[in-house]
Amino acid sequence: MQDHQLIVISNREPYIHQRRDEKIEIIRPASGLVTALEPILRQFGGLWIAHASGSADLETADKQGEIRVPPSQPRYTLRRVALTREEELGYYYGFSNEGLWPLCHLAHNRPIFRLSDWEQYQAVNQRFSNAVPLDSDGKNSLILIQDYHFALLPRLLKQRVATASHRPKIGIFWHIPWPNPEAFGICPWNQELLKGMLGADVIGFHTQYHCNNFLETCNRYLEARIDWEKFSVTMDNQETLIRAFPIGIDPSPVRTLNLTEIKDLKTRYGIHAEIVAVGVDRLDYTKGIVERVEAMERLLEKYPQYRQRLSLVQMGAPSRTHIPAYRALAAQLREAVERVNSRFGDDSGPSPYRPVIFLGEHHEWEEIQYFYQMGDLCLVTSLHDGMNLVAKEYVWCQAAERGSLILSKFTGASRELTEALIVNPYSIEELADSMATAIELPTAERTRRMLAMKEKVRSQNAFHWASSQIRTLLTGTAGISTVAKAS
Ligand code: F6P
Repeated sequence: MQDHQLIVISNREPYIHQRRDEKIEIIRPASGLVTALEPILRQFGGLWIAHASGSADLETADKQGEIRVPPSQPRYTLRRVALTREEELGYYYGFSNEGLWPLCHLAHNRPIFRLSDWEQYQAVNQRFSNAVPLDSDGKNSLILIQDYHFALLPRLLKQRVATASHRPKIGIFWHIPWPNPEAFGICPWNQELLKGMLGADVIGFHTQYHCNNFLETCNRYLEARIDWEKFSVTMDNQETLIRAFPIGIDPSPVRTLNLTEIKDLKTRYGIHAEIVAVGVDRLDYTKGIVERVEAMERLLEKYPQYRQRLSLVQMGAPSRTHIPAYRALAAQLREAVERVNSRFGDDSGPSPYRPVIFLGEHHEWEEIQYFYQMGDLCLVTSLHDGMNLVAKEYVWCQAAERGSLILSKFTGASRELTEALIVNPYSIEELADSMATAIELPTAERTRRMLAMKEKVRSQNAFHWASSQIRTLLTGTAGISTVAKAS
């Protein structure tokens, strides 16, 4: 890495400066992408280019929109790109999150494709291309583009650097699933998106299955050469490798709470149940949060022995609230929580019992770690998810003999964390039964499963994820996945 300058481009920034009343707060966003990339930038330094989404982002940066971060101990530069309201509505809320997000997640939400959103998406991709510096002090640049917000960026950058003395290596990592060719084909601009991505030297997904889908999609919609042996696509004389790089978390040790501290935390949040199930998500319809509350209701119906003894503590950071589907989800969830609490809650004693405790605000990592440690079980019930780092964070933070993970079979994480209780979140019955099973697991069995998962989370971590991609970019050789032809 010494001869290279690392440049990361993502929509979401790692630190948001937000004005609240007279004060400026620094927020760490709820984002799997930030969780995985931040330790890499802290370690190697470099430049991170992202959308300036905070109300005090520009006043806290210099004239170029740059600020050294982390604020407490600067290690790398964050360059913020300011977008107009129209650009943000069209590119981020519109094309990225009302179009591509439901297109790639099979959660039965219809994608919306508006020409005006597509135009803003193209314009913003161009603006981010212009924000990438071409002079890197004689060093070669390694450009790691993140996610579905920037499908056009690899080609735009390739064109821009065609004549530069130092040609950068460009990778794009798609953090969400890649659908099958039929599903992807409904996007009116499917070819433009594919061609844009194929400007990269390497395209990464979390799972081999998504790599297979991508190659089949290129095969269906492009005049390109597909090499099923090398797992590559060649277009306009440029070859792009397609590889699986399962993302991981920062494996730094976490502070462990003792039992008294856990008890205090429970008291602070009015949690009086002896057994706690936790859920930690952005409020997103792909996460299966309503299903989780329904499963809690079914559990209390079917297994009365857990009434008054078990609470679900659900953290739900607000997300993409301008989009009607997200507002509808919040309303649906509120209704479900109220219903379960009025059916099974009990206000009569000195310690009122609520089956579901919903914490609908943003929480910082320090606190989230402690909630994980409070959770005798953790529910990850996504209807579809590229990876899901909550599953890995829980395994990492919770004591081996105390925790059980219930994990949707539709997450990338379920391919790795096979010792979890793997469930179909569309089956409320199965979810409820798996919670009962998790509670009743003998300690030795629980510990065996958690220790095996901890080892996987420790070794397949964020550094491993980043270094595998960087190695593939630098050497052009296979990543960590087994190259396999789609069946
Ligand atoms: O993990 C998938 C992802 O899309 C990330 O790319 C993103 O940072 C995260 O979800 C949160 O979404 P948003 O940045 O729109 O709040």
